Amino acid sequence: MKKKLSIIGLLFILVFSMAACNSKSSSGDSKKGNEKTKLDIFSWWTGAGEEDGLKALIALFQEKYPDIPIENAAVAGGAGTNAKAVLASRMQGNDPPATFQVHGGAELNDGWVAAGKMEPLNDLYDEQGWNDKFPKELIDMVSKDGKIYSVPVDIHRGNVLWYNKKVFTDNGVEPPATFDEFFKVADQLKSKGVTPLALGDKEPWTATMLFEDILLGVLGPDDYGKLWTGELAFDDAKVKESAEIFKKMLGYINEDHSSRNWQDASQLVSNGEAAMNVMGDWAKGYFVNDLKLKVNEDFGYITTPGTDGYFMIITDTFGLPKGVKNPDDVKKFLGLLGSVEGQDVFNPLKGSIPARVDADPSIYDQYGKDTIEDFKTAKLAPSLAHGSAAPEGFVTKVNQAINIFVTQKDVDQFIGSLKQASAELK
Ligand code: GAL
Repeated sequence: MKKKLSIIGLLFILVFSMAACNSKSSSGDSKKGNEKTKLDIFSWWTGAGEEDGLKALIALFQEKYPDIPIENAAVAGGAGTNAKAVLASRMQGNDPPATFQVHGGAELNDGWVAAGKMEPLNDLYDEQGWNDKFPKELIDMVSKDGKIYSVPVDIHRGNVLWYNKKVFTDNGVEPPATFDEFFKVADQLKSKGVTPLALGDKEPWTATMLFEDILLGVLGPDDYGKLWTGELAFDDAKVKESAEIFKKMLGYINEDHSSRNWQDASQLVSNGEAAMNVMGDWAKGYFVNDLKLKVNEDFGYITTPGTDGYFMIITDTFGLPKGVKNPDDVKKFLGLLGSVEGQDVFNPLKGSIPARVDADPSIYDQYGKDTIEDFKTAKLAPSLAHGSAAPEGFVTKVNQAINIFVTQKDVDQFIGSLKQASAELK
């Protein structure tokens, strides 16, 4: 009797759970029972200097669509250090987030689009009248074979050298525009007991950023671009020269660089322990929002040596993965993210400039205004460290080579590793 009962019980559970599954798979954007499918937004924007823009965007969405449940599914770790692995396992397990942060360029196109995991968004662009609202170069970065696959929320600049104003004034030095000037200033500061350059390469991408900015300064945007197409070899004399400069710069960094992340390194500049830091302009968001510093009073900015007129571009974008249960809700979120209103709540907080050409420049601080102006005429260069220039496999190998180089400083070995890694580019 007992056995019979438990078999009936088991059957009941089975039938019940099958019914639940069915209702889930047929729910679409509509309600299953009373519960709507959650719109989970996946990114790596958590904590200091990262999350303010996203939170403001989510709040705006909730105000406009109070019936759509939204979940901030961010995974901590600069440049997606941890998030990218979590995303990969969700995508492989056919459990995509409703939408996720992905860099325009190779990361999107050679990654998720090539793997057949993304829906094209041309209809959304037509519907929203977006085709002439984003710079053409940006639309190209999120397109493959004529189809557009994501919506850019921002444009970050990667070739920025931030400096502590007081430290510079007290030591009578000027922001360096060339490598020679950089080393002159660095020597002067070092002789006064100030750490010239802050680095926090606990996550190696920060050192990769420093190196890519040196490459851009030495090669210029055209030859820099040729590195990713295989037209310029990694053992070219100019790449070696860049590696030598990189090595020399590493002689001016804080000793505890490998235990700091990018925020910790920025802190060294803000508190005057170090004079300069090379970082993307999310650092401005951190300086202003979190550390309460003032642009052009507490800290200043200049393009990294040799890169005046060039723009190391990083764009955060969001798309529609295949197989999500609530595509219409996702499109509503993308619609807001790509709107002037959405971009204007997000970017002033994030440190970036708007991806749209018609957003309001007057709401940005002086750094934002200068960057919006620079973007109009600068020559663009895609960031390697942030996945735009080359596929993930190559970026991972470069990060490893750089991590070794930072401690061993062996130029020949480094160039050899880069050359070997470049097989991934074919
Ligand atoms: C980049 C991203 C930025 C910022 C940065 C630090 O990859 O594009 O928005 O979040 O990482 O985490």
